Amino acid sequence: MLLYITFGLVVLVAILVLVTAFYVLQVLKTLLEKNKTEEQRLADQSAPSWFAQQWMKWNALKPIADEETILLDHDYDGIQELDNHLPPWWKGLFYVTIVYAVVYIMIFHVFESSPLQEEEYDIEMAEAAAERAKKVQDVVYDFDENTVTVNDAPEALAEGMKFYTTNCAVCHKADGGGLAGPNLTDEYWRNGGGIKNVYKVIKNGVQGSAMIPWESRFNPEQMRSLASYVLSLQGSNPPGALGPDGEIYKEEEEQ
Ligand code: HEC
Repeated sequence: MLLYITFGLVVLVAILVLVTAFYVLQVLKTLLEKNKTEEQRLADQSAPSWFAQQWMKWNALKPIADEETILLDHDYDGIQELDNHLPPWWKGLFYVTIVYAVVYIMIFHVFESSPLQEEEYDIEMAEAAAERAKKVQDVVYDFDENTVTVNDAPEALAEGMKFYTTNCAVCHKADGGGLAGPNLTDEYWRNGGGIKNVYKVIKNGVQGSAMIPWESRFNPEQMRSLASYVLSLQGSNPPGALGPDGEIYKEEEEQ
């Protein structure tokens, strides 16, 4: 993006410089003109300018005086036709397209040294797939909701707390006492307690409730930190917490 803007600005400045240079040249020319004698001025007028010469040459225009020679001999209500040649600039372009076509066929269809659009697409898709495979491979989690364990390392709990404060506190209250979502600090659980159940609820959400799945937002390690943090709130008994909701959950049942 930045590259295009820079490029655009450079082109703009170049155009401005050209315009200014052209203007200065014109001014210089008129100044010089004033110093010329009458004779020189007449001489200048009779000789066509360089531009006019080029114009005639590239358009192969017949001077009006010679038009008689290329006049076709039909005449419709006074409308006549000149048998002009194709202008050389047009023919030049035509030859260039022929050369271009030959080069194109050689490169893309004879020597096949460059990929065609469709191949280019396939190549890019393959590259992207390889890159993705590499990324996915880099992070392999050796646990899921059936094997996850509490991670009570201080860094994990601190990370869990950070995610909890920004994402969960709106519904479960900063201290876990519960608001729109249930109290997370007592031993009553609607969906079962313990790391595996809590992890599962965070990952998949609870269908039909405000508790959405967070799987797309957090990776497994982060969800593990969240679940571990939630469980670290057990028994903290914050003031104003919501009352019991669901069943008492005993860790032993988990086995
Ligand atoms: C929009 C409000 C909302 C947000 C945000 C929210 N939750 Fe919930 N959560 C709920 C509700 C409502 C329930 C109860 C679902 C049910 O069982 O019907 C719930 C249930 C839970 C449960 C299970 C509680 C139990 O008693 O079984 C856990 C654990 C939980 N949430 C953790 C989290 C975590 C961690 C986050 C942040 C990543 C979070 N929630 C974000 C509303 C929310």
